[in-house]
Amino acid sequence: MELHADPRRILPVTDPDGRELILSCGAALFTLRTAIHALGFHPATTLMPSRADPDLLAVVRPFAERTPEPKITRLARAIPRRRTNRRPFLPTAIPRSTLAVLRHATELEHAWLPSLSAEQCGRLRDLTARARVAQLADPAFVAELRRWTELSAGTRDGVPSYATDGCPADESWLLEECGPPGAAGLPDPPLVVAIGSLTDERLDRLQAGQALQRVLLTATGAGLTASFISPPVMVRSARAELRRLLGCGVWPQVLLRLGYGTPLPWTPRRPLEDVLLETLVSA
Ligand SMILES: Cc1cc2nc3c(=O)[nH]c(=O)nc-3n(C[C@H](O)[C@H](O)[C@H](O)COP(=O)(O)O)c2cc1C
Repeated sequence: MELHADPRRILPVTDPDGRELILSCGAALFTLRTAIHALGFHPATTLMPSRADPDLLAVVRPFAERTPEPKITRLARAIPRRRTNRRPFLPTAIPRSTLAVLRHATELEHAWLPSLSAEQCGRLRDLTARARVAQLADPAFVAELRRWTELSAGTRDGVPSYATDGCPADESWLLEECGPPGAAGLPDPPLVVAIGSLTDERLDRLQAGQALQRVLLTATGAGLTASFISPPVMVRSARAELRRLLGCGVWPQVLLRLGYGTPLPWTPRRPLEDVLLETLVSA
């Protein structure tokens, strides 16, 4: 099976160099690998196999029948249960052992997972608000956001209004619950983590996308839910500031808020025949 990026689906204003496009494809690739594995095959994967065709991101060859590992079966079971949860989270602490498991999941996919302290969360809140103001000041960004979120009935694409649940556009509110961990009288804060890479090439982004999905499925399996804090990674100057804020030299690819949430409906998907094309290749 070949995984191709579809440049027609890029968001030209939000994602001018296609970074998010590659991340999304990486997430889809991890889902594919997990599904093949759970069906009892080894998903032999080659990343970016062709210099001549940069949109061919991976080739996956299911081979060598084998009994699926229980860990992979658990990840596969989480595929249909995972949701992006943009609602407030419950004030329940995430065990440190779960954070260690998520960190390990990221490292298995050659990416890194710095988590943010309460002090860093405070600075991040300010950075997120400033980056969001910059985004909303750009009419082209607002038009693009509307195109993907204000959908006509029956559309099987974009983010439907019930998924955003009337949450304010300024994503800095997502960090408002952040307080000093474990301080007496305060609810436990949600966990904020970055998925980062040591360099910022297309291959790093593809791997970070796989790490993202491994983290999301692992989190789902542990009863957690997640949402994206996007302005600080999408606005170029804010991303440089976030990189300094993290202070460990990694390029932030994705910023996630993780916590325990309330159940959510499933969002629509494009028809399978739009995304899975069958071609007969002669030997
Ligand atoms: C690389 C990447 C970036 C994303 N960025 C955002 C974002 O900035 N804001 C947001 O609300 N959701 C973001 N999402 C989540 C998608 O909107 C979501 O996955 C999609 O609408 C499908 O919904 P689901 O996750 O509930 O299945 C992102 C997803 C990926 C893979």
